Amino acid sequence: MDNTTFIYLDNAATTYPKPGGCMQRALERYLEIGASPSRGGYDLAREAEIAVSEVRDRLRRFFGADKDYPLCFGGNATDALNTLIQGLTEPGDHVVSTCLEHNSVLRPLNHLRAQGRIEFDLAGFDANGFVGPNDIAALIRPQTRMVIINHASNVLGTVQPVAAIGEICRNAGIPLILDVSQSAGAIPIDMKAWHVSGLAFTGHKSLLGPTGIGGLIIHPDLPIRSIRFGGTGIDSANLFHTQAFPYRLEAGTLNLLGILALGESLSYLYELETQGYRMKEMALTEQLRDGLLKIDGIDLYAAKSLENHIPLITCNVRGYVAADVGAILDGDFNIAVRTGLHCAPLVHERIGTSLNGAIRFSLGVFNNQAHIDAAISAMSMIARNT
Ligand SMILES: Cc1ncc(COP(=O)(O)O)c(C=O)c1O
Repeated sequence: MDNTTFIYLDNAATTYPKPGGCMQRALERYLEIGASPSRGGYDLAREAEIAVSEVRDRLRRFFGADKDYPLCFGGNATDALNTLIQGLTEPGDHVVSTCLEHNSVLRPLNHLRAQGRIEFDLAGFDANGFVGPNDIAALIRPQTRMVIINHASNVLGTVQPVAAIGEICRNAGIPLILDVSQSAGAIPIDMKAWHVSGLAFTGHKSLLGPTGIGGLIIHPDLPIRSIRFGGTGIDSANLFHTQAFPYRLEAGTLNLLGILALGESLSYLYELETQGYRMKEMALTEQLRDGLLKIDGIDLYAAKSLENHIPLITCNVRGYVAADVGAILDGDFNIAVRTGLHCAPLVHERIGTSLNGAIRFSLGVFNNQAHIDAAISAMSMIARNT
Protein backbone atom coordinates (compact mmCIF):
# COMPACT_ATOMS: atom_id res chain seq x y z
CA MET A 1 0.00 0.00 0.00
CA ASP A 2 1.36 3.41 -1.02
CA ASN A 3 0.58 5.44 2.09
CA THR A 4 1.80 8.69 0.55
CA THR A 5 -1.27 8.96 -1.67
CA PHE A 6 -3.74 6.80 0.22
CA ILE A 7 -6.27 8.79 2.26
CA TYR A 8 -8.09 6.92 4.98
CA LEU A 9 -11.39 8.45 6.07
CA ASP A 10 -13.06 5.37 7.52
CA ASN A 11 -11.92 5.73 11.11
CA ALA A 12 -15.39 5.02 12.50
CA ALA A 13 -15.03 1.47 11.17
CA THR A 14 -11.59 1.13 12.72
CA THR A 15 -8.84 3.68 13.13
CA TYR A 16 -5.96 3.41 10.68
CA PRO A 17 -3.05 3.57 10.85
CA LYS A 18 -2.48 2.47 14.43
CA PRO A 19 0.20 4.30 16.40
CA GLY A 20 3.07 2.02 15.47
CA GLY A 21 5.16 2.70 18.57
CA CYS A 22 2.30 1.50 20.80
CA MET A 23 1.97 -1.80 18.95
CA GLN A 24 5.73 -2.28 19.03
CA ARG A 25 5.99 -1.64 22.77
CA ALA A 26 3.04 -3.93 23.47
CA LEU A 27 4.57 -6.71 21.40
CA GLU A 28 7.90 -6.36 23.18
CA ARG A 29 6.18 -6.53 26.58
CA TYR A 30 4.10 -9.49 25.43
CA LEU A 31 7.20 -11.36 24.32
CA GLU A 32 8.68 -10.63 27.73
CA ILE A 33 5.73 -11.47 30.05
CA GLY A 34 3.37 -13.45 27.80
CA ALA A 35 2.26 -16.06 30.33
CA SER A 36 -1.43 -16.71 31.04
CA PRO A 37 -2.74 -13.94 33.34
CA SER A 38 -4.17 -15.20 36.65
CA ARG A 39 -3.30 -18.80 35.83
CA GLY A 40 -0.20 -20.00 37.65
CA GLY A 41 1.51 -19.01 40.86
CA TYR A 42 4.88 -18.32 39.24
CA ASP A 43 6.34 -14.85 38.77
CA LEU A 44 5.69 -14.51 35.05
CA ALA A 45 1.96 -15.30 35.31
CA ARG A 46 1.73 -12.89 38.23
CA GLU A 47 3.46 -10.20 36.19
CA ALA A 48 1.02 -10.74 33.32
CA GLU A 49 -1.90 -10.49 35.78
CA ILE A 50 -0.49 -7.25 37.22
CA ALA A 51 -0.11 -5.79 33.72
CA VAL A 52 -3.76 -6.66 32.94
CA SER A 53 -4.88 -5.18 36.21
CA GLU A 54 -3.02 -1.93 35.48
CA VAL A 55 -4.84 -1.57 32.16
CA ARG A 56 -8.16 -2.24 33.93
CA ASP A 57 -7.36 0.62 36.34
CA ARG A 58 -6.36 2.96 33.56
CA LEU A 59 -9.52 2.26 31.56
CA ARG A 60 -11.66 2.86 34.65
CA ARG A 61 -10.00 6.24 35.14
CA PHE A 62 -10.35 7.05 31.46
CA PHE A 63 -14.11 6.43 31.58
CA GLY A 64 -14.72 8.14 34.92
CA ALA A 65 -15.47 4.96 36.89
CA ASP A 66 -14.46 4.33 40.50
CA LYS A 67 -11.85 1.74 41.44
CA ASP A 68 -14.52 -0.69 42.64
CA TYR A 69 -16.37 -0.75 39.31
CA PRO A 70 -15.68 -4.16 37.74
CA LEU A 71 -14.00 -3.93 34.33
CA CYS A 72 -14.32 -7.11 32.27
CA PHE A 73 -12.44 -7.67 29.05
CA GLY A 74 -13.93 -9.26 25.97
CA GLY A 75 -13.41 -9.29 22.24
CA ASN A 76 -15.09 -6.02 21.26
CA ALA A 77 -18.17 -3.87 21.91
CA THR A 78 -20.49 -6.42 20.30
CA ASP A 79 -19.32 -9.01 22.78
CA ALA A 80 -19.73 -6.59 25.71
CA LEU A 81 -23.19 -5.46 24.58
CA ASN A 82 -24.36 -9.07 24.27
CA THR A 83 -23.07 -9.77 27.77
CA LEU A 84 -24.87 -6.73 29.17
CA ILE A 85 -28.16 -7.31 27.36
CA GLN A 86 -28.34 -11.05 27.94
CA GLY A 87 -26.84 -10.92 31.42
CA LEU A 88 -29.22 -8.26 32.70
CA THR A 89 -32.57 -9.31 31.26
CA GLU A 90 -34.93 -11.92 32.67
CA PRO A 91 -37.98 -13.40 30.95
CA GLY A 92 -40.82 -10.86 30.99
CA ASP A 93 -38.51 -7.85 31.08
CA HIS A 94 -38.87 -4.74 28.98
CA VAL A 95 -35.99 -2.73 27.50
CA VAL A 96 -35.93 0.86 26.24
CA SER A 97 -33.52 1.72 23.48
CA THR A 98 -33.32 4.01 20.44
CA CYS A 99 -33.51 3.97 16.67
CA LEU A 100 -29.89 5.15 16.59
CA GLU A 101 -28.58 1.78 17.73
CA HIS A 102 -26.03 -0.34 15.93
CA ASN A 103 -26.94 -3.93 15.09
CA SER A 104 -24.84 -5.02 18.06
CA VAL A 105 -27.76 -3.80 20.20
CA LEU A 106 -30.68 -4.22 17.80
CA ARG A 107 -29.92 -7.84 16.98
CA PRO A 108 -29.56 -9.14 20.54
CA LEU A 109 -32.79 -7.31 21.43
CA ASN A 110 -34.62 -8.75 18.43
CA HIS A 111 -33.36 -12.29 19.09
CA LEU A 112 -34.45 -12.12 22.72
CA ARG A 113 -37.86 -10.81 21.67
CA ALA A 114 -38.21 -13.55 19.03
CA GLN A 115 -37.50 -16.11 21.78
CA GLY A 116 -40.35 -14.58 23.78
CA ARG A 117 -37.99 -13.47 26.56
CA ILE A 118 -38.28 -9.68 26.41
CA GLU A 119 -40.22 -6.79 24.93
CA PHE A 120 -38.57 -3.54 23.87
CA ASP A 121 -39.45 -0.07 22.64
CA LEU A 122 -37.26 2.28 20.67
CA ALA A 123 -37.23 6.07 20.98
CA GLY A 124 -36.88 7.98 17.73
CA PHE A 125 -34.57 10.92 17.06
CA ASP A 126 -35.20 14.46 15.84
CA ALA A 127 -34.26 16.01 12.48
CA ASN A 128 -30.83 16.90 13.88
CA GLY A 129 -30.10 13.33 15.01
CA PHE A 130 -30.74 13.66 18.75
CA VAL A 131 -32.86 11.52 21.05
CA GLY A 132 -34.99 13.51 23.50
CA PRO A 133 -34.56 12.50 27.15
CA ASN A 134 -38.33 12.88 27.62
CA ASP A 135 -38.94 10.41 24.81
CA ILE A 136 -36.89 7.88 26.74
CA ALA A 137 -38.78 8.66 29.95
CA ALA A 138 -42.12 8.18 28.16
CA LEU A 139 -41.21 4.60 27.19
CA ILE A 140 -40.26 3.43 30.67
CA ARG A 141 -42.71 0.88 32.16
CA PRO A 142 -42.81 -0.93 35.50
CA GLN A 143 -41.19 -3.95 33.77
CA THR A 144 -38.35 -1.93 32.21
CA ARG A 145 -35.09 -3.63 33.19
CA MET A 146 -32.73 -1.25 31.44
CA VAL A 147 -32.29 1.66 29.07
CA ILE A 148 -29.57 1.06 26.49
CA ILE A 149 -28.38 3.81 24.17
CA ASN A 150 -25.72 4.54 21.61
CA HIS A 151 -23.64 7.46 22.89
CA ALA A 152 -22.49 8.66 19.44
CA SER A 153 -24.25 7.60 16.27
CA ASN A 154 -21.98 5.79 13.85
CA VAL A 155 -24.15 7.06 10.98
CA LEU A 156 -24.94 10.66 11.95
CA GLY A 157 -22.12 11.42 14.36
CA THR A 158 -24.48 13.02 16.88
CA VAL A 159 -23.70 12.67 20.59
CA GLN A 160 -26.70 11.94 22.76
CA PRO A 161 -27.57 13.87 25.95
CA VAL A 162 -26.41 11.10 28.27
CA ALA A 163 -26.28 13.17 31.45
CA ALA A 164 -29.99 14.06 31.13
CA ILE A 165 -30.95 10.49 30.24
CA GLY A 166 -28.83 9.23 33.15
CA GLU A 167 -30.70 11.49 35.52
CA ILE A 168 -34.04 10.10 34.30
CA CYS A 169 -32.80 6.53 34.72
CA ARG A 170 -31.44 7.21 38.18
CA ASN A 171 -34.75 8.71 39.30
CA ALA A 172 -36.63 5.75 37.87
CA GLY A 173 -34.17 3.26 39.45
CA ILE A 174 -33.35 1.74 36.05
CA PRO A 175 -29.80 1.00 34.90
CA LEU A 176 -28.55 3.03 31.95
CA ILE A 177 -26.28 1.08 29.61
CA LEU A 178 -24.12 3.10 27.23
CA ASP A 179 -22.52 1.97 23.98
CA VAL A 180 -19.40 4.12 23.69
CA SER A 181 -17.98 2.38 20.62
CA GLN A 182 -17.80 5.60 18.63
CA SER A 183 -17.34 8.12 21.41
CA ALA A 184 -14.54 6.50 23.44
CA GLY A 185 -11.37 8.40 22.63
CA ALA A 186 -13.22 10.92 20.48
CA ILE A 187 -14.89 12.83 23.31
CA PRO A 188 -14.59 12.79 27.13
CA ILE A 189 -16.75 10.25 28.97
CA ASP A 190 -17.76 10.39 32.63
CA MET A 191 -19.58 7.24 33.59
CA LYS A 192 -20.13 8.10 37.22
CA ALA A 193 -21.17 11.73 36.75
CA TRP A 194 -23.70 10.67 34.12
CA HIS A 195 -25.15 7.82 36.25
CA VAL A 196 -24.21 5.18 33.72
CA SER A 197 -24.55 1.68 35.20
CA GLY A 198 -22.92 -0.22 32.38
CA LEU A 199 -20.63 0.84 29.56
CA ALA A 200 -19.50 -1.18 26.53
CA PHE A 201 -16.32 -0.18 24.68
CA THR A 202 -14.30 -1.43 21.77
CA GLY A 203 -10.55 -0.95 21.57
CA HIS A 204 -9.97 -0.55 17.86
CA LYS A 205 -11.79 2.68 17.03
CA SER A 206 -10.88 6.06 18.57
CA LEU A 207 -9.09 4.33 21.44
CA LEU A 208 -6.48 3.51 18.75
CA GLY A 209 -5.94 -0.07 19.90
CA PRO A 210 -5.95 -3.24 17.81
CA THR A 211 -9.01 -5.24 16.80
CA GLY A 212 -10.08 -8.10 19.06
CA ILE A 213 -10.05 -6.26 22.39
CA GLY A 214 -12.93 -4.50 24.11
CA GLY A 215 -14.94 -4.84 27.27
CA LEU A 216 -17.41 -3.45 29.73
CA ILE A 217 -17.43 -1.53 32.98
CA ILE A 218 -20.33 -1.82 35.39
CA HIS A 219 -21.55 -0.30 38.60
CA PRO A 220 -20.57 -2.72 41.40
CA ASP A 221 -24.23 -3.24 42.39
CA LEU A 222 -25.51 -4.09 38.93
CA PRO A 223 -27.19 -7.51 39.18
CA ILE A 224 -25.70 -9.21 36.12
CA ARG A 225 -25.46 -12.91 35.33
CA SER A 226 -22.68 -14.71 33.47
CA ILE A 227 -23.78 -15.62 29.97
CA ARG A 228 -20.71 -17.73 29.20
CA PHE A 229 -19.12 -20.25 31.47
CA GLY A 230 -15.64 -21.72 31.58
CA GLY A 231 -12.16 -21.40 32.97
CA THR A 232 -11.21 -18.30 34.93
CA GLY A 233 -7.99 -19.35 36.61
CA ILE A 234 -9.55 -18.99 40.06
CA ASP A 235 -11.99 -21.09 42.13
CA SER A 236 -11.16 -24.10 39.93
CA ALA A 237 -12.82 -26.73 42.16
CA ASN A 238 -16.16 -25.04 41.61
CA LEU A 239 -18.14 -26.74 38.82
CA PHE A 240 -20.09 -23.54 38.30
CA HIS A 241 -18.71 -20.28 36.95
CA THR A 242 -17.26 -18.09 39.65
CA GLN A 243 -19.35 -15.09 40.68
CA ALA A 244 -16.34 -12.96 41.63
CA PHE A 245 -15.65 -9.97 39.41
CA PRO A 246 -14.14 -9.46 36.92
CA TYR A 247 -14.20 -13.22 36.25
CA ARG A 248 -18.00 -13.45 36.39
CA LEU A 249 -18.12 -11.89 32.93
CA GLU A 250 -14.87 -13.27 31.53
CA ALA A 251 -14.50 -16.89 30.42
CA GLY A 252 -11.33 -18.30 28.92
CA THR A 253 -7.85 -16.90 28.49
CA LEU A 254 -7.66 -13.14 27.98
CA ASN A 255 -6.21 -11.36 24.95
CA LEU A 256 -3.06 -10.25 26.74
CA LEU A 257 -1.42 -8.74 23.66
CA GLY A 258 -4.57 -6.74 22.88
CA ILE A 259 -4.84 -5.54 26.49
CA LEU A 260 -1.20 -4.42 26.55
CA ALA A 261 -1.66 -2.62 23.24
CA LEU A 262 -4.78 -0.89 24.52
CA GLY A 263 -2.83 0.25 27.59
CA GLU A 264 -0.16 1.71 25.32
CA SER A 265 -2.69 3.46 23.10
CA LEU A 266 -4.30 5.04 26.16
CA SER A 267 -0.94 6.58 27.06
CA TYR A 268 -0.64 7.83 23.51
CA LEU A 269 -4.11 9.40 23.69
CA TYR A 270 -3.18 11.26 26.87
CA GLU A 271 -0.09 12.53 25.08
CA LEU A 272 -2.18 13.64 22.08
CA GLU A 273 -4.62 15.35 24.41
CA THR A 274 -1.92 17.78 25.46
CA GLN A 275 -1.72 18.77 21.78
CA GLY A 276 -5.48 19.30 21.54
CA TYR A 277 -6.19 16.45 19.11
CA ARG A 278 -9.95 16.55 19.63
CA MET A 279 -10.16 20.21 18.64
CA LYS A 280 -7.99 19.57 15.61
CA GLU A 281 -10.18 16.66 14.47
CA MET A 282 -13.34 18.71 14.87
CA ALA A 283 -11.83 21.70 13.04
CA LEU A 284 -11.03 19.43 10.08
CA THR A 285 -14.52 17.92 10.26
CA GLU A 286 -16.00 21.41 10.12
CA GLN A 287 -13.92 22.22 7.04
CA LEU A 288 -15.10 19.02 5.39
CA ARG A 289 -18.72 19.81 6.25
CA ASP A 290 -18.39 23.39 4.94
CA GLY A 291 -16.66 22.23 1.77
CA LEU A 292 -19.31 19.61 1.04
CA LEU A 293 -22.10 22.08 1.77
CA LYS A 294 -20.81 24.34 -0.99
CA ILE A 295 -21.07 21.58 -3.62
CA ASP A 296 -24.31 21.47 -5.62
CA GLY A 297 -26.00 18.10 -5.52
CA ILE A 298 -24.68 16.91 -2.15
CA ASP A 299 -27.05 16.25 0.74
CA LEU A 300 -25.63 16.13 4.27
CA TYR A 301 -27.31 14.41 7.20
CA ALA A 302 -27.48 15.86 10.73
CA ALA A 303 -24.49 18.11 10.21
CA LYS A 304 -26.12 21.54 10.44
CA SER A 305 -24.36 22.07 13.75
CA LEU A 306 -21.27 20.14 14.82
CA GLU A 307 -21.85 20.81 18.49
CA ASN A 308 -22.26 17.49 20.30
CA HIS A 309 -20.79 15.68 17.34
CA ILE A 310 -17.93 13.28 16.72
CA PRO A 311 -15.62 13.83 13.73
CA LEU A 312 -17.84 12.18 11.16
CA ILE A 313 -19.88 13.49 8.20
CA THR A 314 -22.45 11.47 6.29
CA CYS A 315 -23.80 12.54 2.95
CA ASN A 316 -25.04 11.49 -0.48
CA VAL A 317 -24.53 12.73 -4.01
CA ARG A 318 -27.87 13.16 -5.74
CA GLY A 319 -28.32 10.73 -8.58
CA TYR A 320 -25.73 8.28 -7.25
CA VAL A 321 -25.95 5.12 -5.20
CA ALA A 322 -23.62 5.60 -2.22
CA ALA A 323 -21.59 2.48 -3.01
CA ASP A 324 -20.80 3.85 -6.48
CA VAL A 325 -19.45 7.07 -5.00
CA GLY A 326 -17.36 4.97 -2.59
CA ALA A 327 -16.01 2.94 -5.51
CA ILE A 328 -15.06 6.12 -7.43
CA LEU A 329 -13.42 7.64 -4.35
CA ASP A 330 -11.43 4.45 -3.93
CA GLY A 331 -10.62 3.72 -7.57
CA ASP A 332 -9.98 7.22 -8.92
CA PHE A 333 -8.90 9.16 -5.85
CA ASN A 334 -7.42 6.54 -3.48
CA ILE A 335 -9.75 7.70 -0.71
CA ALA A 336 -11.28 5.11 1.63
CA VAL A 337 -14.74 5.83 3.07
CA ARG A 338 -17.64 3.68 4.26
CA THR A 339 -20.79 3.39 2.20
CA GLY A 340 -23.99 1.39 2.63
CA LEU A 341 -26.10 0.97 5.76
CA HIS A 342 -23.31 1.06 8.39
CA CYS A 343 -24.93 -1.68 10.54
CA ALA A 344 -27.61 0.73 11.76
CA PRO A 345 -30.61 0.06 9.48
CA LEU A 346 -33.17 2.03 11.50
CA VAL A 347 -31.19 5.26 11.13
CA HIS A 348 -31.23 4.83 7.36
CA GLU A 349 -34.93 4.07 7.43
CA ARG A 350 -35.56 7.37 9.16
CA ILE A 351 -33.27 9.55 7.03
CA GLY A 352 -34.52 7.90 3.83
CA THR A 353 -31.31 6.17 2.76
CA SER A 354 -32.32 2.52 3.18
CA LEU A 355 -32.24 1.91 -0.54
CA ASN A 356 -29.11 3.74 -1.67
CA GLY A 357 -27.16 3.86 1.57
CA ALA A 358 -25.01 6.84 2.52
CA ILE A 359 -21.36 7.90 2.27
CA ARG A 360 -19.58 8.30 5.58
CA PHE A 361 -16.36 10.27 6.02
CA SER A 362 -14.90 9.64 9.47
CA LEU A 363 -11.75 11.34 10.65
CA GLY A 364 -9.01 10.17 12.95
CA VAL A 365 -5.97 11.59 14.68
CA PHE A 366 -3.76 11.05 11.62
CA ASN A 367 -5.87 13.03 9.16
CA ASN A 368 -4.68 16.43 8.01
CA GLN A 369 -5.66 19.41 5.93
CA ALA A 370 -4.45 17.86 2.67
CA HIS A 371 -6.75 14.86 3.21
CA ILE A 372 -9.78 17.09 3.69
CA ASP A 373 -8.94 19.25 0.68
CA ALA A 374 -8.54 16.13 -1.46
CA ALA A 375 -11.86 14.69 -0.25
CA ILE A 376 -13.74 17.92 -0.99
CA SER A 377 -12.15 18.23 -4.42
CA ALA A 378 -12.95 14.57 -5.26
CA MET A 379 -16.57 14.94 -4.13
CA SER A 380 -16.91 18.13 -6.16
CA MET A 381 -15.68 16.34 -9.29
CA ILE A 382 -18.04 13.40 -8.69
CA ALA A 383 -21.03 15.70 -8.11
CA ARG A 384 -20.21 17.64 -11.28
CA ASN A 385 -19.70 14.32 -13.05
CA THR A 386 -16.33 15.45 -14.40
C1 LIG B 1 -22.16 2.45 17.64
C2 LIG B 1 -21.47 1.14 17.51
N1 LIG B 1 -21.74 0.17 18.40
C3 LIG B 1 -21.13 -1.02 18.34
C4 LIG B 1 -20.21 -1.30 17.36
C5 LIG B 1 -19.57 -2.64 17.33
O1 LIG B 1 -18.18 -2.55 17.52
P1 LIG B 1 -17.31 -3.87 17.34
O2 LIG B 1 -17.49 -4.29 15.91
O3 LIG B 1 -15.93 -3.45 17.63
O4 LIG B 1 -17.86 -4.86 18.26
C6 LIG B 1 -19.91 -0.33 16.40
C7 LIG B 1 -18.97 -0.62 15.31
O5 LIG B 1 -18.99 -0.03 14.26
C8 LIG B 1 -20.56 0.92 16.48
O6 LIG B 1 -20.30 1.89 15.61
